[in-house]
Amino acid sequence: MKIITSDSKLACSAHAADIILNEIKRNKKAVLGLATGSTVEDLYDCLIKKTKSDGVDWSGIRSFNLDEYVGLKEDEYNQSYRYFMDSKLFDHININKANTNFPIKVNDKAEANQSFANYDEAIKNAGGIDIQVLGIGNNGHIAFNEPGSSIDSLTRCVQLTPSTIKANSRFFASEDDVPKLAISMGLRSILNSKKIILLAFGENKREALNHLINAKSFDPNWPCTCLHNHSDLIVITDLK
Ligand code: GLP
Repeated sequence: MKIITSDSKLACSAHAADIILNEIKRNKKAVLGLATGSTVEDLYDCLIKKTKSDGVDWSGIRSFNLDEYVGLKEDEYNQSYRYFMDSKLFDHININKANTNFPIKVNDKAEANQSFANYDEAIKNAGGIDIQVLGIGNNGHIAFNEPGSSIDSLTRCVQLTPSTIKANSRFFASEDDVPKLAISMGLRSILNSKKIILLAFGENKREALNHLINAKSFDPNWPCTCLHNHSDLIVITDLK
């Protein structure tokens, strides 16, 4: 595990953006695993700016997002992770949207069941994830792998914990409006990535991050600890 500490969220995000863009320049068909949440907003801003200034070509890049809510109402489309990715990154670069994958399409449960069953297979067929971007939940979740998740879990339907529903309610009209279910890549799906960049910003993440940094083995109460012996994990944080 490599830990990079910087004073500001922006400096951390710029560093992560450089790692990703170097990979894209080296491998025009790179496969990226992408995350959503407030943590990655500056990263996506940096990627857009540097893509424009350096003329980076995303046309051959494939992406797989970590997770998506299940059960969003129609007027809540703008809370979907598809909407987040389109508005914060994909609409501003020349990625081919046909190459951007989510474990389900929002508001389409029938299709949902079919697509998430094949998600890990689709990742494998794409050659595996070259760089996986991760945030971390206050309770140590990664993607929506809540405490109690199996280290061998693959993409599946998961129930969100009350603490995650509360944390994510800041994006919804009320806590009641936060979906209770999501489709999430599993811990094994994430561990299969060749390189992982985990970003953690702010005091709320300190406890979870400390569990990861000090982990000697996987503790299912803190799902992030599954990463402790990944062969190429970079933690980038403003926490000292
Ligand atoms: C969400 C997402 C995660 C994200 C985490 C932290 O629930 N499913 O992928 O990393 O919680 O969110 P934030 O970055 O807003 O703190």
